Amino acid sequence: MSKSRIAIAIDGPAASGKSSTAKAVARELGYRHVDSGSLYRAATAARLRKEGEPVAWTEESVLDAARAVSLSPVDDGFVPLLNGRPADDEIRGDAVTHRVSLVAKMPGVRDWVNAQVRKAGREYDVVVDGRDIGTVVFPDAALKVFLVADPEERARRRVRERTGREPSAEEMFDETARILLRDELDATQSVKAVDAVLIDTTQLTQDEQIERIVELARLHNVD
Ligand code: CDP
Ligand code: CDP
Repeated sequence: MSKSRIAIAIDGPAASGKSSTAKAVARELGYRHVDSGSLYRAATAARLRKEGEPVAWTEESVLDAARAVSLSPVDDGFVPLLNGRPADDEIRGDAVTHRVSLVAKMPGVRDWVNAQVRKAGREYDVVVDGRDIGTVVFPDAALKVFLVADPEERARRRVRERTGREPSAEEMFDETARILLRDELDATQSVKAVDAVLIDTTQLTQDEQIERIVELARLHNVD
C-alpha cells in the first residue's frame, strides 16, 4: 500500500502571493505545487476559444469545452494543457481574468477542478493554492495557511509583475479597482478555514513569506 500523502493548503485573495509562495514552499519541502486557479483559468480559456460572449455560457458548455484540458505533471508541479499544449499566456490574459470568476461559480466546474486536484494529492505530496483548498478540497490538510494583504499592496504587486517597475498613480487607481472587484466576485468561494493560520503579507517580502510557511510546515512536522 502506498504511504498516505501530505497536502498543504494555501488560500487567499488575488495577488496575496499564493502561487509564487506555494511554488517555492513546494520546492523547499520536495513536494509538488498545484495551482487550482490555473484549472479554472484553463476551463475559461477553453470555453473562450469556442465563443467569446459569456452570456450564453452554461455550466454544461464550459464542462464540454474543458474536456480539452488536462493537468500534466512537470518538474516540481503541474501545468494545465489545452488540447495537449501549454497555453500560459492565454490562461493568464485579460480575457480569461475577466470571465474566470463567473466560471468558478458553476458547481459542476468546481467539482471538475476539485477531482483533478485531489487526484494529484493522492499521487504526490502537494502544496495547493487556491480559494477553498483548506475548506473544501483538502479539509484534512496537514497545514492550512490563509494569506491576506491590503488591496493597494496587491495592486502594486500586480503592476510590478506586469511592467517590472513601480506603478504610476493612475495605474494604482485602476489596478486597485480591479483587485477590489475580483475580491467581490470571489467572496463566496474564498473562505478562511477556522484552523488556517492567517498571515498578513502586506509588510512581508516574498522570501519572508516563504520562510514563515516553511517554518510552520516544520512545526507541523510535515517536512
Ligand atoms: O492568481 P489569482 O489570485 O489572480 O487567481 P487564480 O488563483 O489564478 O484564480 C483565478 C480565479 O479562479 C479566481 O479569481 C477565482 O474566481 C477562481 N478560483 C476559485 O474559485 N477557487 C480556487 N480554489 C482557485 C481559483
Ligand atoms: O497567486 P496570487 O495571485 O495570490 O499571487 P502571486 O501571483 O503569487 O504573486 C503576485 C506577485 O506579487 C508576484 O509577482 C510575487 O512575486 C509578488 N509578491 C511580492 O512582491 N511580495 C510578497 N510578499 C508576495 C508576492
